[in-house]
Amino acid sequence: MIYVVLMLMGYFAMGQNPVAIPDTLSGTNFNLHLQTGTTSFYPNTTTHTYGVNGDILGPTLFLNKGDNVTLNVQNNLPEVTTIHWHGLHVSPENDGGPHTTIDTGHTWSPHFTVLDHAATYWYHPHLHEHTAEHVTKGIAGFIIVRDVDEAQLTLPRTYGVDDFPLVVQSRAFDANHEFIVETALDTLVLVNATKDPYLDVPAQVVRLRLLNGSTERVYNLGLQGNLTFHQIATDGGLLDAPVSLTRLRLSPGERAEILVDLSTQQSNTINLMSFGSELPNGIYGASNPSAMPMGSITNYSSNPLNGSNFNVLQLNVIAPTSNAVTSIPTALVTNTPYASSSSQITRSLTFSPAQMGPTGMVNGPFEINNASFDMNVINYNIPLNNTEIWSLTNQTGIAHPFHIHDVQFFILDINGATPPANMQGRKDVVLVPAQQTVRFITKFEDFADSTVAYMYHCHMLSHEDDGMMGQFLVLGPATNTDNLLLDDEVLIYPNPTTTQLNITLKNEANAIENIQVTDVLGRVVYTENGLNTNVAIINTQGLSSGMYHVFLKTKDGIYTGKVVKQ
Ligand code: C2O
Ligand code: CU
Repeated sequence: MIYVVLMLMGYFAMGQNPVAIPDTLSGTNFNLHLQTGTTSFYPNTTTHTYGVNGDILGPTLFLNKGDNVTLNVQNNLPEVTTIHWHGLHVSPENDGGPHTTIDTGHTWSPHFTVLDHAATYWYHPHLHEHTAEHVTKGIAGFIIVRDVDEAQLTLPRTYGVDDFPLVVQSRAFDANHEFIVETALDTLVLVNATKDPYLDVPAQVVRLRLLNGSTERVYNLGLQGNLTFHQIATDGGLLDAPVSLTRLRLSPGERAEILVDLSTQQSNTINLMSFGSELPNGIYGASNPSAMPMGSITNYSSNPLNGSNFNVLQLNVIAPTSNAVTSIPTALVTNTPYASSSSQITRSLTFSPAQMGPTGMVNGPFEINNASFDMNVINYNIPLNNTEIWSLTNQTGIAHPFHIHDVQFFILDINGATPPANMQGRKDVVLVPAQQTVRFITKFEDFADSTVAYMYHCHMLSHEDDGMMGQFLVLGPATNTDNLLLDDEVLIYPNPTTTQLNITLKNEANAIENIQVTDVLGRVVYTENGLNTNVAIINTQGLSSGMYHVFLKTKDGIYTGKVVKQ
C-alpha cells in the first residue's frame, strides 16, 4: 500500500520544475572552478552541494575534433580531488585518474589534441575511495565532441532547442536534506540536478544525449506509450545507422544519443520513464539486485524505485521551430571494428566477491582476478599498438558496468551471442551481467607512458571505491640498448642481454620487493614477488630474442625499463 501511494505521489509530483540545461563553454581554453555551493531541492531548505562554475554540476564543454585544447581546473573545494575526462582518448597524465590529484587551491592544466569521434562524453572526479562522494555532491558535466562526419548529417544540434544533454542521477537525502552517499535508499531521480523535471520539446525530431551519472542504479529507459525512438550514438561515436528501440538500458557511466520524432505530438505530454519492472534480477534497479535466490542489499527492497516503472522526465511537446529536422536519417557513419584476427593477446578478467557467501555476492567488496585495487601494483603492461581481446567474466551475483580508460572498444559477444545492434558501436562502458562473460576488442594506440597508468574499473562508484579497479601502463617500443639507469636509482645491465640481467639498487636502504618481466605482447614471462633485497639476477637464457619490459617495485617506488634479449 505504501508502495502504491509513493508511486502515485511520484507521478503527480512530476513536471513542476523546468529541467536545468547546463551553460556551455567552447573554444580551446576552458576554465573550470570546482566550488562549494547550495542547491534547493525541497521548499525552504537547501542542500550543500559541489559544482563546477556554479552550485551543482558543471558547464557542457564543446570540443572540436582536431583542436588543441587546454582545460584549467582550479580546485576551490575544501578537499583534494581529480577530474577525469571520461571516454576521451588522451595521454595518461592528461587523463585525470586517481594519481593526478589537484590539491585545494591548486590548478591543474592538462592540454591535448582532441582525437575523439563526435559523441557525448563527460567529466567527473576520480579520487580513489572518494569518487562516489564527490560525484554525489554534484561534480559532473558533459563534454560534447563535434567532428566533420557528424556535421555532414542532418541531425538536430541546436543546444537546448532540439539537442538536449540529460544526466540521470538518483539521490538520497538525510533528515537535514543533505545528500547521503552510501545507501540503497536513492529514492529521488534527478535530471540535470532538477527534481520533478519537465522539458519543453518542439514538435519535430529532437536529440536527447542521455548519461547515467548515478552511483549504482541502472535505468531501462523508454517513452510512455511505447513510442519508438532511434539510438544514433553509443559512448564513443555514432552508430552505422539509427537503431529503432522502445527500451534502452543505460548503466552507470554509459551514454546514448537518441532521436525522438515528435512531429505529430504537439500539445501532448510524454513521459520519459524507466521500466524497472522489466529489468531481470541481478541488476541494480530490478526487484532483486541478486541474480541468485539468496543475497540482498540493506534497505534495497524498501526503495520504491526498485523493480518498478517510474517517471524520469516529463516531455511537453510545444510548437516546432523554424528549420526543424523532420526525419530520421537512414545511415550515419561507417564504424570499422578491430578485426579479431589482428588481436595479439586475450586478457581474462574475473570479477568475484572478496568474501564468499550471499552477502558478498551482491554487496561486495568485489575483486578483479582476486585482487583489490592497489595504487602500487600495475596489473597489466600493454605494448603500444597492441590489439587485444578482454574477456570479462562475472562470477558475482550482480551486474557490473565495466569501464576502461584510454580506449573505445567494440563488444565481440555477450555470453557467446552477438551484441544487439545498438551495442555494436564504440563503447567505453559495458554492463557485464551476473554469471556471464562479455568479450570486447580494442587497440591501445598513440599514448605510451612508463610511469602514469590508466584505470579500468566497475562504474558502480561504490564498487570502484571499494577496490573493484585495476591499472595498466601502455609502453612504447625499446629505443635504447644501453645499461639502464632508471631515475638515478636502479641499474639494470647488461643491455642487450644474453644469459642474465643484473639489477642493482644504488641506495642501500632501498629494497626490491617485486620483479615482473613482460614480452612485446605484454605477456608475463618472469615474476618474483615478496623479495627484500638490494640486488637481483634474472636468468634470461630461456627467453626468445626480442624486447622485454622489466618492472620493479621497490620500497621507494615503481621503476620500469626496456631491455633487449639477443
Ligand atoms: Cu567515468 Cu574511471 O571513470
Ligand atoms: Cu560493480
